[in-house]
Amino acid sequence: MSESVNIGLLGCGTVGQGVVRLLTDKDSPLERRLGKKLKLRKILVRDLKKQRGDHIPSELLTKDPREIIDDPEIDIVVELLGGIEPAGGLLLQALENGKHIVTANKALLAEGGAPIFAKAAEKDRHVGFEASVAGGIPILKAISEGFVANRIQKVVGIINGTANYVLSEMAEKEADFESVLKEAQAAGYAEADPTLDVNGTDAAHKLAILVALCYGVEVPFKEIFTEGIEQVTSLDLQFAERLGYCLKLLAIAEENSQGIEARVHPTMIPKEHLLAGVKGAMNAIYLVGDAIGEAMFYGAGAGSLPTASAVVSDIAAIAARLEESSLLDIAAGLHEGKIRSIENWQGEYYLRFSVVDRPGVLAHIAGVLGEHDIGIAAVYQEERGTGNPIPIVVMTHEAIEKNVQKALQEIRSQETTLDKPVLIRVEKG
Ligand code: NAP
Ligand code: HSE
Repeated sequence: MSESVNIGLLGCGTVGQGVVRLLTDKDSPLERRLGKKLKLRKILVRDLKKQRGDHIPSELLTKDPREIIDDPEIDIVVELLGGIEPAGGLLLQALENGKHIVTANKALLAEGGAPIFAKAAEKDRHVGFEASVAGGIPILKAISEGFVANRIQKVVGIINGTANYVLSEMAEKEADFESVLKEAQAAGYAEADPTLDVNGTDAAHKLAILVALCYGVEVPFKEIFTEGIEQVTSLDLQFAERLGYCLKLLAIAEENSQGIEARVHPTMIPKEHLLAGVKGAMNAIYLVGDAIGEAMFYGAGAGSLPTASAVVSDIAAIAARLEESSLLDIAAGLHEGKIRSIENWQGEYYLRFSVVDRPGVLAHIAGVLGEHDIGIAAVYQEERGTGNPIPIVVMTHEAIEKNVQKALQEIRSQETTLDKPVLIRVEKG
C-alpha cells in the first residue's frame, strides 16, 4: 500500500480515544477497503498528564494546536474538542491552510456552521460531519445520498442518547433522575455540560442539521421550539404506561403546505409506535419520503466506538477522494428559512393537574378546556381522600397549542390548582 493520508486529531476524550482505537487497529479491514494508509500524526489535548487508554500513543500528544493546523503534511483535521471555541476558530484556520475537516460537533455546526461551510466552499475542501447526528447511525449520508430523490415529508428522531437512557431507566427501573444521569455521564454518552442533553438543546442542535439536509433550509437553532426532560416525573411515566403510551424526547421536523415545523419536546407515543422500542442510549430516526414511504434507522447514538465509527467513515470518505472537489456541498443549496411557531401546532395532549380534592374542581377544568375549544378524549382521577392534592389526567382530542396554553394559564390561576399543570404532546404517526 503506497499512499498515506495524514490525520491530525483535535481532542482525545470519549470520541477521540475511540477514533484512535479504530485508526490503530492492526486487524481492521479499513486500509484494505480504502487502498490507502490512514496515519495518525498528532493529537491535541488540554492536559498531557491525564490518564488515557494504553492504546493512545503518548508521543503524538501535544498541547499546541499549531502543530496540527500548520503542519503541511496533515491532510485531514478531525475536531473532537466540543464547544464553540476554540473548536470553530481552529477549524476555520485548518480550512484556510488547505486541510479537509471532520467534526462531531453539532453545537458548533448548529450555532456557527455557516462560516465553516462557506470557508470550505471557498477553499474547495470537504467537511465531514456524520457523527454530529445520531452517533454511529449513518443518517446524514442516507438523507443526502440514499434519499436524494425524495422529498422528505417528516423526520421523527430519538437523537439524544442521554435523555433516552434517563427516560428508559426511570420508566423501567423507577430509578431517580439524578442517579441515572450520572450513569449516562459515566458511560460517556453525555455532553461535557449534561444540561444540554436534558434541556433538549443537544437534540435541537441535531435537528437544525437535519432540517438543513432535509429541506435545504438554514434555521437559527434558537427558533426551534425546545423543551427538555427536566420536568418529567415518575408519576407521568406511570400514567403514560397505564394509558398505553411511552414517553420519549422526540425531535420532529415536518414540511407541509403551511411551512416547516421543527420542535423538540417530551412526547407520548403509543406503545406500538416504531420508536417505542428504542431504549437506553440507542437512537432511531423514522422518516417519510415521498418515494421511499416510511423508513427507520436504529443504532447506537452515543458513546466512544459508535461515534468513532461515524467519524472514521468520514475520514475514509474524504481520504478516498482527497483531490476531487467536494461532492456534498451543504452550504451551496441552503437558503434562509423560517420555522412555523409552535403556537399553531395542532395535536393531542396529555395534561396533568395537581388539584385539591373538592367538588366542582373537575367540572371547572373541563369547562375551561371547553371554552378554549379543547375536546376531552378521556379523564382519569384517583381518589386519595378529601383535602389531599390529587392528580387529574386529561387526554385531549386535537387542539391548537396556543389555546391549550391559555387554558392552562387560566386553570393554574385557580386556588384549587396546586402546581404548574403538566403538558405533554402526543404523537401517533
Ligand atoms: P470529551 O470526552 O470531553 O473530550 C474532549 C477532548 O478535547 C479531551 O481530550 C480534551 O482534552 C480536549 N479539549 C477540550 N478542550 C480543549 C482545548 N481548549 N484545548 C485542547 N484540548 C481540548 O468530549 P467527547 O464526548 O469526546 O465529545 C467530543 C465531541 O464529539 C463533542 O463535540 C461532542 O458533542 C461530540 N459527540 C460526542 C458523542 C459522545 O457520545 N460522547 C457522540 C457524538 C458527538 P483533555 O483530555 O486533556 O481534557
Ligand atoms: N450527548 C449526546 C447524546 C452524544 O447523549 O446523544 C451524542 O451526540
